[in-house]
Amino acid sequence: MEIKAEEIKQCANKPRHVAIILDGNGRWAKKRGLPRTMGHNEGVKNVKEIVTASAEAGIRYLTIYAFSKQNWSRPSDEVGTIMSLLNATARKEINELHRNNVCLRIIGDKNDLPAEARKILENGEALTRDNTLLTLIVALSYSSRDEILRAVRSLAEDSRKGITDPGQIDETLFESRLDTAGIPDPDLVIRTSGEFRISNYLLWQSAYAEFFFAKELWPDFHRQEYYRALLDYTKRERRFGKTSEQVTP
Ligand code: FPP
Repeated sequence: MEIKAEEIKQCANKPRHVAIILDGNGRWAKKRGLPRTMGHNEGVKNVKEIVTASAEAGIRYLTIYAFSKQNWSRPSDEVGTIMSLLNATARKEINELHRNNVCLRIIGDKNDLPAEARKILENGEALTRDNTLLTLIVALSYSSRDEILRAVRSLAEDSRKGITDPGQIDETLFESRLDTAGIPDPDLVIRTSGEFRISNYLLWQSAYAEFFFAKELWPDFHRQEYYRALLDYTKRERRFGKTSEQVTP
């Protein structure tokens, strides 16, 4: 039976933040005898569908893993295609995100991005910073270990300068140095394409997240598949290390 956006929206315990590892664009294309590029094109279309589906279901934060730091080692023509696609998508979609009250945030090592893409994305972040319907976080040249190391380096630097006392470094201070500063931790992490890996994604932030592994390849993971994952989440009991009785007395 079709799941309507409203049904999810009405759930008090729907996830506030969903983080997705979109995987399977290449295999989607291969299955059809198409070049990998076509899989990425289709993948971008589906990002749009899932962003809309998230906003309509009342999800407040959506993070998508668009490109990992490790993805730079793919064949250079594939990397080039993905970067062009990113530029074109950003140019085309940022104004629409803004019109729809969506805030854009980029996480990852922006220094790695081509200058043009970086400029478009940073302008998009500035333009949409006060939007409140949904925050769309795009992980680009992202690696969780790299993010953690950058945070550690910045705190070590402050300690060296005497600005921070190492003994005072707690979770709150540490989190304020992560790319995700100010964004609540993901409640639900979804990975598509039948793989059961975390692939260097939000390692610190997903300490207490629930996981959902979907068998569909990313371009086939449409609104209904997504809503099934969200409904599945609403039926789970999150305990954060406590006993069942402590959570629901
Ligand atoms: C996942 O499939 C694809 C990637 C990690 C890179 C490309 C991502 C996109 C084109 C979506 C980007 C979104 C924006 C906003 C531009 P895969 O290539 O790893 O698939 P495979 O495992 O089947 O080879």
